[in-house]
Amino acid sequence: MTNIAVFASGTGSNAVNLVKAFNSGSRIRVALCLTDRENAPVIEKMRDLGVETIYYPRSVWREEPQTILDTLKAHDIQIIALAGFLCFLSEDIVNAYDGRILNIHPSLLPAYGGKGMHGGNVHKAVIEAGEKKSGATVHIVTNELDCGPIVVQREVDVLPDDTPESLEAKVHEVEYQIFPEAVVKTVAGMTTPPAIPQSADDAWAEALGVPNNVPPIPEQPAPASQSPYAGQSPFAAQQPISNMNVAPNPWMQNQAFQTRQPRPAVNEPMPKTYLVWSVVCTILCCFIPGIVAIINSAKVSSKYYQGDIEGAKRASRNAEIWIIISFVLGVITNTLYIPLSIAGLF
Ligand code: GRF
Repeated sequence: MTNIAVFASGTGSNAVNLVKAFNSGSRIRVALCLTDRENAPVIEKMRDLGVETIYYPRSVWREEPQTILDTLKAHDIQIIALAGFLCFLSEDIVNAYDGRILNIHPSLLPAYGGKGMHGGNVHKAVIEAGEKKSGATVHIVTNELDCGPIVVQREVDVLPDDTPESLEAKVHEVEYQIFPEAVVKTVAGMTTPPAIPQSADDAWAEALGVPNNVPPIPEQPAPASQSPYAGQSPFAAQQPISNMNVAPNPWMQNQAFQTRQPRPAVNEPMPKTYLVWSVVCTILCCFIPGIVAIINSAKVSSKYYQGDIEGAKRASRNAEIWIIISFVLGVITNTLYIPLSIAGLF
């Protein structure tokens, strides 16, 4: 499992998109969200999706980068995705995650990047300059603002009637495509590939035209199932049924759900049921022990047909014993009845 941390300061639509893209699979997962704004809307969105989200004030980001690094380490984070993160990122963090921090920027970098170029400012500047094309870029973060190597970039047309808002909406759509692509590319570049069976992540890699060379990971139960989007990825649906790891249904293995066991393979005769003797004893000797003998007698055949030969033998022996008990009690009762009645006690 490759764990991603998303850093975000704003609405967090890109952060949510990354969770939707990955968290129903088993190879890449948004495991943590860090923010520098106490009331950022992203906090609630990520928590609703079951992603642990922590707020650190800007003073911590500036002065205590080790606190951030410790948090990342505790969550076993391999990649950081900056999704609208407007806070200073310490050199210590950039160096510790060298080549593994991605930033998404709403322009065709290197154009419209650098100081002050974020959010609406970028789109306003693009329109004012009369550009025919804009777009979005995901790049590797270095210690120079908006200058790292480009991982994925995609264009959108700027139409004459576009406003900063309409352009922003178009660029956002492109961002939702290229940010997951860039994450997959980065993960793929980090490792050497063993061939793995088709999975949601393979389908992703295939659809994106990139290799999926993440090594297999041990099964992880919780995070995907915490997410309301779990299992809803359109890519998950592409998984061929034959490759699905369907565990046998324990209920179907329960004997109670099987109509009748086959007769025993061994050629063993059914033990004696003593049914007639049980009935005779019930009527003539002693009622209750006789009934117990009948019950055991009935069990002999049912156990035998379930294949439980030992159980049938046991029931047969019990029937025998209860017949004897019934008979003896019957004889004793009748024997005592005669002298007692003569003595006038009955
Ligand atoms: C995106 O346009 C991104 O390019 C920029 O900040 C914006 C964040 O939007 N870095 P959202 O919070 O993900 O909706």
